Amino acid sequence: MDRGGRLAGALSAASAALLLLAAADSPRVPIREARWAAPDRLFETLSREPAECLARPVGAAARRSVEIGRIAFRAPLLLGGQAARAGISCATCHRSGRDNPAFLFPGVSGDPGTADVTSSLMSSHRGDRTDNPRPIPDLAGPPERLKVSRTGPGALEAFIHGLVVEEFDGAEPPPAVMAGLAAYVRALRPEACRGGSRRVSLEGRLDAVAAAVRLAAGSDRDTGRFLITAARSLLGAVDERFRLPGLERDRALLAEADAELRALREDPRRGAPSLERWLERWPERRRRLMRDERRSLFSPAILRAQLRA
Ligand code: HEC
Repeated sequence: MDRGGRLAGALSAASAALLLLAAADSPRVPIREARWAAPDRLFETLSREPAECLARPVGAAARRSVEIGRIAFRAPLLLGGQAARAGISCATCHRSGRDNPAFLFPGVSGDPGTADVTSSLMSSHRGDRTDNPRPIPDLAGPPERLKVSRTGPGALEAFIHGLVVEEFDGAEPPPAVMAGLAAYVRALRPEACRGGSRRVSLEGRLDAVAAAVRLAAGSDRDTGRFLITAARSLLGAVDERFRLPGLERDRALLAEADAELRALREDPRRGAPSLERWLERWPERRRRLMRDERRSLFSPAILRAQLRA
């Protein structure tokens, strides 16, 4: 297996195919997730997400690590090359850390809900060069169903590291980000599941943006830069759902918040007071966006109308 990994290669072919598709048949909604959702489940998958089964650990340092991992899990920048360009993150396949029955990506999936990521990773599959899409597992599933031990030291870390750096051809992430990802996955537990699916809400997205910036303010330089870039990609995912007539002021506000982060990213430590200032301005921005949520594609009614248009 070359370092590029098979999935990265498949994604490169797939994203070229998708670009052609997009040119021929422009998508009905400008939402990134629509690109890999089975057409018959589009509304459901864009409007609902599974409950997250997160058992937050006790202790400030352990909690912080889980929070960093939670952001990294949702950030497309973790994965390299084509996967990043297509906007794929861990959460693309493992929505809310669970599974994604609607996942459909040419060259990567077989049936909806499956993906081929086994090729170079698990020793039992090493050297397997056939197409082998597997059901995407629920990472909060019962321990006896999991393949990678969450308890043994290092097994989960090694698995995730191989996934990021080999299978997805990503750059070596900062150590605090790698540790955070493993801490986050370890904190996903069946006993922490509360309720079924929930509405995809603006509030949840905005809280993740603020969390990423707050974590950046207290991080080393590389981790800080990673988290600020993650915050920007989360803002981008909010912006997509505000691309409707009448919401121009909200989009201008998002662009302004994003431009400030871009400038701060250059040196989050030296810029720490400015990250604080960014956070001071955030509640007012948040309030204005929340006021218009019902007019955006976060509203199931608006989303449905748009998909039918
Ligand atoms: C393209 C879809 C896809 C993406 C993106 C993806 N995964 Fe997975 N993941 C899978 C599939 C499919 C399996 C099951 C592989 C198998 O059964 O051999 C899996 C398995 C796993 C497992 C093992 C589960 C177990 O049973 O113990 C972990 C942990 C995991 N993924 C974490 C991650 C993390 C962390 C990321 C981001 C760095 C990620 N995944 C990105 C599809 C994906």
